[in-house]
Amino acid sequence: MPKNVAVLVGSLRSGSINRKLAHALEGLGGDKLTFENVEIGDLPLYNEDLWAEVPAPVTRMKRQIEAADGVLIVSPEYNRGYPGILANTFDWGSRPSGQSSFTRKPVGIIGATGGATGTAAGQQHLRLAAVNLGMIVMHAPEMYITWNSERFGPDGEIKSDDTRKLLQGFVDAFAAFVDKHG
Ligand code: FNR
Repeated sequence: MPKNVAVLVGSLRSGSINRKLAHALEGLGGDKLTFENVEIGDLPLYNEDLWAEVPAPVTRMKRQIEAADGVLIVSPEYNRGYPGILANTFDWGSRPSGQSSFTRKPVGIIGATGGATGTAAGQQHLRLAAVNLGMIVMHAPEMYITWNSERFGPDGEIKSDDTRKLLQGFVDAFAAFVDKHG
């Protein structure tokens, strides 16, 4: 029975390399993992007043996270941190007080950039946020992806054997992690 993974992509743009990376990872999940994208672009900016009449996207996002065996965050690094759309998702998902959707969810973190540092700085902030949310964080293997045309095709297809091996190792470790903690 495959484990169900809720995928949070930290980019809304149509050509997102992180969205492509998420698809590539899905292709490596085999019979161990099924991936379900969580739409976060339609969440309103967090506003405590909106709990009076909970916006439908908030309820849907929270239910998706709660129903999942694990969460996978695939995100760019923005200004050495993580994008505001993820911060907004964490804020909605963590409330109301005592009803956080993230508590004790196993989480894997990965990201891609064209830059040499492979989102390493952004991922450190994400790890801290995930710990603060009470999630169970997979700390190894760390996976910092520098996206280039030798490794990936235009639609995100994996072109290099080394990259495939690296990503397969990450997916296999995450599947085992979710199996243990999910
Ligand atoms: C970036 N980018 C970026 N890259 C990086 O390696 N470190 C950084 O700190 C930043 N900061 C940053 C801030 C903002 C506001 C933007 C829009 C971009 C570049 C970023 O990695 C690049 O645009 C990626 O392609 C974004 O990921 P998606 O949208 O392709 O998934």
